[in-house]
Amino acid sequence: MSFLLYAVTLARDSGNTFATRVNRLNCDLVIIGGDGDLALRKLYPALYCLWVNDCLSAEMRILAIARRDLSQQEFLERVRSWLEKSKAVKVFSAQAWEEFSTLIHYAMLDATCGDALDQVRRDHLQDTQRDLVVYLATPPQIFAPICGALESAQLVRPNTRIVVEKPLGDDRESFLAINHQLTRIFDEQQVYRIDHYLGKETVQNLLALRFANTFLEPLWNNKYIDNVQITVSEAIGASGRWEFYDEAGAMRDMVQNHLLQLLCLAAMEPPAHLEPTAVRNEKLKVLSCLRPMDDHAVRENTVIGQYTAGAVAGEPVPGYCEEEGAQAQSDTETFVALKAHVDNWRWAGVPFYLRTGKRLSRQYSEIVIEFKQVAHSIFGTRLPAGTPNRLIIRLQPDETISLELMNKVAGLDANAPLRKVTLDLSFSQDSALGTTPDAYQRLLFDVMRNNPTLFVRADEVEEAWKWVDGIQSVWQAMGKQPEPYTAGSWGPSRAIALIARDGRNWHEYP
Ligand code: BG6
Repeated sequence: MSFLLYAVTLARDSGNTFATRVNRLNCDLVIIGGDGDLALRKLYPALYCLWVNDCLSAEMRILAIARRDLSQQEFLERVRSWLEKSKAVKVFSAQAWEEFSTLIHYAMLDATCGDALDQVRRDHLQDTQRDLVVYLATPPQIFAPICGALESAQLVRPNTRIVVEKPLGDDRESFLAINHQLTRIFDEQQVYRIDHYLGKETVQNLLALRFANTFLEPLWNNKYIDNVQITVSEAIGASGRWEFYDEAGAMRDMVQNHLLQLLCLAAMEPPAHLEPTAVRNEKLKVLSCLRPMDDHAVRENTVIGQYTAGAVAGEPVPGYCEEEGAQAQSDTETFVALKAHVDNWRWAGVPFYLRTGKRLSRQYSEIVIEFKQVAHSIFGTRLPAGTPNRLIIRLQPDETISLELMNKVAGLDANAPLRKVTLDLSFSQDSALGTTPDAYQRLLFDVMRNNPTLFVRADEVEEAWKWVDGIQSVWQAMGKQPEPYTAGSWGPSRAIALIARDGRNWHEYP
């Protein structure tokens, strides 16, 4: 047996990483859209990793429902081939797959048909004592008929949970309509809305950093923090899902959810405890403190762009409207930069700069907390200007937390300028802290054990839409067009001006 295979087998036999501290989960998991992109790319790899890490009981049942005419064997072959190429699956073991695949059952049927689901219930889901998790890996347009069919098939029970993913509408109104369809049948606490950024390990660690240590809290306010920057920079383009992306654009696809959720975690008050309601209440307060933007503010504080052909990592790439499946012309933004304000006591006067875009120079995401300059420098010119302390919470590609500090260069030269040094607060190298589950592993695990802390409550989504709608309606009214930027750059030059105007710079990935 190879060492790696041995390691995998050992993990399941003896317990491993975060699984050592948890009970193996046992429930019925129904994935509707079980043959789709989301299920194949994210859900089965995450479930497989949970299995390998000994988090799932051998009694667990995974029922994949889709319309495609596939035999059980053909379906399993498909899942296997996706697992083998998935980045989330660090080591694929044929033996672990053999065991894991016995949990999966494929059912070809139309999930909007109550009779078909009723048959599934009679065949597979008779035990009403077992928790039932239904994952809607489908477009929201069919949430309503699916929920209706689940109800008529008697699959809506007090121990049923329903999982949904963005896009949940394209504005507040359409979100409320989708939500109404869900909550007509399920109670709010049964609805799990996924924002996969909340499942990322560093995001979790931000909470630990802020609330399990005392040294930062006294500094975490407008007295010491100059500005906060949140960047989610993608090197990839919209190819492969152009049509979907073109309907959404960067504001709806990324800012309304991922970036605003990161902002909430950075800005929220300490919750009284880690119970879901306490955490979500604090996030909601932040969203409701976001300063609405009038015409003038939108003009001054927002920039949108669309990429043109260029090169990313030395490879030529097409422009947005030349991507596969693209139309020759589009007004959709692939880049957004904006300056936001959280109008409360803690953050008054501290700008939050947000930016995200496709086909940018690098693929990375981070939150940068930039502290104020020292009030009075006793070092004269030895302390160069523009060297504030920065706390950098990086979500990807590397999951790190670092602190930039000024330090003396060793030696006798009394005139040597001070140097910036980076204190690495990373946890990834510390094996005592275990290995990092990917976001979907954590989130699926939490749904199955009925912990909604990392899921977004309806009022949060609504509040985020309210703020975003305000900006989008001004864009629309003024006919704002995205500015072109070359693929492989950092976006339109006005995005640099947006922050430079305030005497600041975007923190670039080194
Ligand atoms: C998704 C967006 O929610 O997040 C995609 O729809 C984006 O457009 C993706 O590429 C980014 O996620 P991650 O985890 O790769 O940063």
